[in-house]
Amino acid sequence: MSDDAIRILGISGSLRRGSYSTMVLRGLQEAVRQRAQVQIHSLEEIPLYNADLDGDTKPPAVVTLKAAIQECCGVVLVSPEYNYGMPGVLKNALDWASRPAYASVLKGKPVLTMTTSPGIGGGVRAHAQLRQTLAGTLSRVVPAPEVLVAAVHTKVDGGRLTDATSLKFMTEAFDLLLAEIGRGVSAYCQKIQTV
Ligand SMILES: Cc1cc2nc3c(=O)[nH]c(=O)nc-3n(C[C@H](O)[C@H](O)[C@H](O)COP(=O)(O)O)c2cc1C
Repeated sequence: MSDDAIRILGISGSLRRGSYSTMVLRGLQEAVRQRAQVQIHSLEEIPLYNADLDGDTKPPAVVTLKAAIQECCGVVLVSPEYNYGMPGVLKNALDWASRPAYASVLKGKPVLTMTTSPGIGGGVRAHAQLRQTLAGTLSRVVPAPEVLVAAVHTKVDGGRLTDATSLKFMTEAFDLLLAEIGRGVSAYCQKIQTV
């Protein structure tokens, strides 16, 4: 992968070591590696949002997260569903990244959303909530398809998603993210796409 590779930031909404959502991200990372570099960014160190800490000197993990979003061409979010919504871990990170309101690093950023579940719903309710939150950030969410990975525990092996049908669906959605980046507002990403 050259230095000019299209850089995509991958964020899992789950912190646990054996997370299926993170495995989905790893599967995608592998599947698209010829076309883009997906860098997985952990939310482990992000503190709870507190506007008192959101001044000129922000928590280091927040500074790192915001810089990573700023410097990537697009973001892939893969989230489990917790009680019919997205986990607080992910909502909290999006809240940090969303400031200043309507002028944050997420504004205009192409974003692909995916949800997972060991159940049959694939996290569809979390998916809807995730998109609603992203609407508040003015990011450019790939509108369709909704990538839902149901029965995710049956589709992984060796720490990553291996199910061929799911990977095909996901890589087709990823292509739409690349297309959105190509239409985009980032001169840097447009430049490397035409190299
Ligand atoms: C607090 C909590 C709430 C959950 N609520 C839901 C839910 O509403 N819908 C669902 O499909 N799974 C739910 N689950 C099950 C998760 O989908 C399952 O634990 C999944 O493996 C978590 O994602 P991960 O593997 O990426 O960590 C819940 C799990 C936890 C811990």
